Amino acid sequence: MQSIEKEAVIAQEYLARIAKEAEAKFDEHLPPVSDRPSRLHEAMRYSMFAGGKRLRPGLVKAAFDMFGGKGDTIWYATSALEMLHTFSLIHDDLPCVDNDDYRRGKLTSHKKFGESTAVMAGDALCVQAFELMGKTGNAKAIETLAHLLGTYGMIGGEMTDIECEGKEVDLEIVDYIHYHKTAALIEASLLVGALLAGASEENMEIIRKYGRSIGLAFQIVDDILDIVSTTEELGKDAGSDVEKGKATYPSIMGLEKSRERAKELYEESVRVLDGLSCDTSILRSIAAFIITRVK
Ligand code: IPE
Ligand code: IPE
Ligand code: MG
Ligand code: MG
Ligand code: MG
Repeated sequence: MQSIEKEAVIAQEYLARIAKEAEAKFDEHLPPVSDRPSRLHEAMRYSMFAGGKRLRPGLVKAAFDMFGGKGDTIWYATSALEMLHTFSLIHDDLPCVDNDDYRRGKLTSHKKFGESTAVMAGDALCVQAFELMGKTGNAKAIETLAHLLGTYGMIGGEMTDIECEGKEVDLEIVDYIHYHKTAALIEASLLVGALLAGASEENMEIIRKYGRSIGLAFQIVDDILDIVSTTEELGKDAGSDVEKGKATYPSIMGLEKSRERAKELYEESVRVLDGLSCDTSILRSIAAFIITRVK
C-alpha cells in the first residue's frame, strides 16, 4: 500500500491525461463562436475552457475502462458530465445564488458576460449535455443522469443550500445538501461510465456507494479549503461560505473533525472497492487525491 500522497499523484497524472483527450472532444462538442448567437457560444466556451480538475470526465472514463467498456461513444459522456458540472458552477456563482466573482482563476461568467448571458450559457450547456448523451443511445444512462442532476440530485441540493443560508442547521441537513449538490454528479459520472460499459447491477451498486463516499468527502474538503486557502490558490472566492452563513461541515463540527470525517469517508470508499474483482487502482488513487487536494 502506497502513501496517500503518492496515490494522489498517480490520480493527478491520470486526470491530466484524460483531460487532454476529453478537452479535444469538448471543442468538437461545443457550438462554434462563428455560429449564432456568438456571444452565447463564447460564454459556453469561456467557462468550459477556463481550466478545472476535470474530475467528472476522469471518473466517467475510469468506470468505463474498469468494467471493460470499448469504443468511442464514451467521449460523448465525458463532455456531457463536464458540461453539466460547468453549468452548475456558472449558476452557482450567480448574484442570486453564491454571488462570487472568480471561478477557475478567471472572472465568473456573469462578471465577464453579464447575468442574462451567464444564465443562458448554463442552460445551453445543460441541454447540449443531454443532446450528446442521446448519441450514446443508452436510455438508462440518460435517465440515471437526469435523475441525479434534477430535483432529487444536484439541483435539489443547490436549492436546499440556498434555503439554509444564515440558519442553524444540523448534520442531517448538511449531509443532505452535500450528498445532493456535489456527490450526486460524482456518483452520476461513475454510473454513466459503468452503464455505457454494460456493468452488472451488483457492480453498479458498489460503484454508487464509492461515489457517494468520495462525493461527500469532496464537498467536505471544498468546505475546508474555503476557510484555509486563498482566492489565488483556489482560483475562486475564498471565505465565501462564512460570509454567506453557508451550511458547511466546519461550521458544524470545526476544521479538525471535518478533516477526520473526510479521512473516514476515504477509508470507507476504498473498502467498498474491495467488493469488485476488476482493477480498481485508479479509483483508489482518485479517492486519495480527493482528500489531499489543495484546490
Ligand atoms: C467545484 O467543483 C464545485 C463543487 C462541487 C465543490 P470542482 O472543485 O471539481 O471544480 P473544478 O472543475 O476543478 O473547477
Ligand atoms: C457547489 O458548492 C456545488 C455545485 C453544485 C456547484 P459550492 O458553492 O461550495 O461550490 P464552490 O465552492 O462555489 O465551487
Ligand atoms: Mg454554492
Ligand atoms: Mg459556490
Ligand atoms: Mg465551496
